[in-house]
Amino acid sequence: MAEFDSSTQSIPGTGLVPRHVAIIMDGNGRWAKKRYLPRVAGHRRGVESVRDVVKACAEQGVKYLTLFAFSSENWRRPPDEVSFLMQLFLKALEQEVAKLHDNGIRFKVVGDLSAFDTGIRDLVRRGEELTAANTGLTLTIAANYGGRWDILQAANRAREADPAAPISEERLTPLLSMAYAPEPDLFIRTGGEQRVSNFLLWQLAYAELYFTDALWPDFGAEALEAAFASYRQRERRFGRTSEQLAEGEPIPKAG
Ligand code: IPE
Ligand code: IPE
Ligand code: MG
Repeated sequence: MAEFDSSTQSIPGTGLVPRHVAIIMDGNGRWAKKRYLPRVAGHRRGVESVRDVVKACAEQGVKYLTLFAFSSENWRRPPDEVSFLMQLFLKALEQEVAKLHDNGIRFKVVGDLSAFDTGIRDLVRRGEELTAANTGLTLTIAANYGGRWDILQAANRAREADPAAPISEERLTPLLSMAYAPEPDLFIRTGGEQRVSNFLLWQLAYAELYFTDALWPDFGAEALEAAFASYRQRERRFGRTSEQLAEGEPIPKAG
C-alpha cells in the first residue's frame, strides 16, 4: 500500500494551504538575456529564488515542495550550460544542505542519478541521510527527472517483483520515485510557457495548475502568495459535481 491516497482511487483531503507544491522553475535564460548577461547568470540568480521559496513554503506550512531543477531532456543543451548547471548543483549541495538541516527540512532528490558523477551522488546521499528524520518541510529536487522515466522504472520494478501479475495502481504507485509524498495539490510553472515538460506526469492527475509569466529569478514569496491565492479560489471536485460538494455528501467508494 502507498503511504498516501491516490486521487483516482479515493478523494484526497484538501485544505487552504496546499500540502504539496510542485514547481517548474523556468525562465532563467530569458531573465539573463534581458539584462545582456550570459544565460548561466540567470541560473545563478535562480538559486536565490529557491532559497526564498523554500523559506516561504516552510513558513506557510506547506509539507512538501518539489522543484524541477534539471529534466531528462536538458542534456540536449549546449555542453557548457550543462556543465555549469552540474557545478551549480554541486555547489548548492555543499553550501545549502547543512542550512536545510538546521531548519528542520528533509532533503530528497528524485531522478536518474546514475548519470551524475560520484561527487554529486555522494553529496545527495549524505544530504538525504543527514536530514532523513527531519519533520518540517520535505524539499525534493528533481534532477535528471522525467515523468516517463519514473513511470517506466516503477513498471519495470513491479514486473520484476511478480512477472505474472497485472500492473495495477496499487502495485505501481509505491514504486514511483515520490511515493513518500502525497500527489501535488498545486503545480506552478514560471516563465510563461504553459506545458508540463515531462515533469510529474502520473502524480499531476488532479493537481491545480498555475502558470505565471514571472521569470524564475523574479519569483519569490510575494509571487508565491499570488499562486496560493489562486489555489484557494479553486473548487477541487475530483470528478464530482459542485452540488455534491456543497451538500457535503458522503464520499462514495471508487469503482
Ligand atoms: C530553467 O530556466 C532552468 C533549467 C531548465 C535548468 P531555462 O534555462 O529553461 O530558462 P529559459 O526558459 O531559457 O528562459
Ligand atoms: C523544464 O524547463 C525543465 C526545468 C525547469 C528543469 P525547460 O526550459 O527545459 O522546458 P521546455 O524545453 O521549454 O519545455
Ligand atoms: Mg526554459
